[in-house]
Amino acid sequence: MRLDKYLADAGYGTRKEIKNYIKNGRVSILDGRDPRPEMHVENGDVLFDNAPVSLETGFKYYVLNKPSGVITATHDNREKTVMDLLEPAIRKGLAPVGRLDKDTEGLLVLTDDGQLTHRLLSPKHHVWKTYYIKTDMPLEERDCEYFRDGVDIGDDKPCLPAELRIYDNPCEAEIRICEGRFHQVKRMIAACGKEVIYLERIAMGEFTLPKDLERGSFRRMTEEEVECLKG
Ligand code: URA
Repeated sequence: MRLDKYLADAGYGTRKEIKNYIKNGRVSILDGRDPRPEMHVENGDVLFDNAPVSLETGFKYYVLNKPSGVITATHDNREKTVMDLLEPAIRKGLAPVGRLDKDTEGLLVLTDDGQLTHRLLSPKHHVWKTYYIKTDMPLEERDCEYFRDGVDIGDDKPCLPAELRIYDNPCEAEIRICEGRFHQVKRMIAACGKEVIYLERIAMGEFTLPKDLERGSFRRMTEEEVECLKG
């Protein structure tokens, strides 16, 4: 493969950026040949800043701490999307796992592993999504019962049984659902006569939003995190 394509596929930047890196001496070839963008290289031949570059086979998994104000879509002509928060070189092939509303914050996984995406989202597979909410009015014990029984949000069928755990401050709670209907959490809370004023996803299955990941930041998931997500 050409050196510039190899580095681009490995996520080091656009072809133009890579040309500059080569010119600035940041790229070297193990066998001592002078690096040129069009030269042919094999996997494992290349060093970037003296560190080996390996082209990954396998799927890519990223975690984003979504801020409010961006939409969950791969592209949009008017609005800023979650993809705009990622570096251009890593966007290729990635898609968000499920949708968070524009004003929802928190855990968003992006991957090119379609099978895993399907398994995480399909209600059949019962993967819990956990949300932290704030409401305009205190939540009550009877709301927890309604969640357990299946809230009617006006769709053909009521929601599957879900969990509502009210915090000491009754205007705060954690919600666990295993479906992903349109505006589901907000509609469930509306069906209890209250309004969601803040919504954050904090976990998907056993995988919780990493504490070190700032709002608006993303990073590659570690192998342990991917295993945890796969359950
Ligand atoms: N439920 C909602 O209402 N909004 C989200 O963004 C996610 C779940």
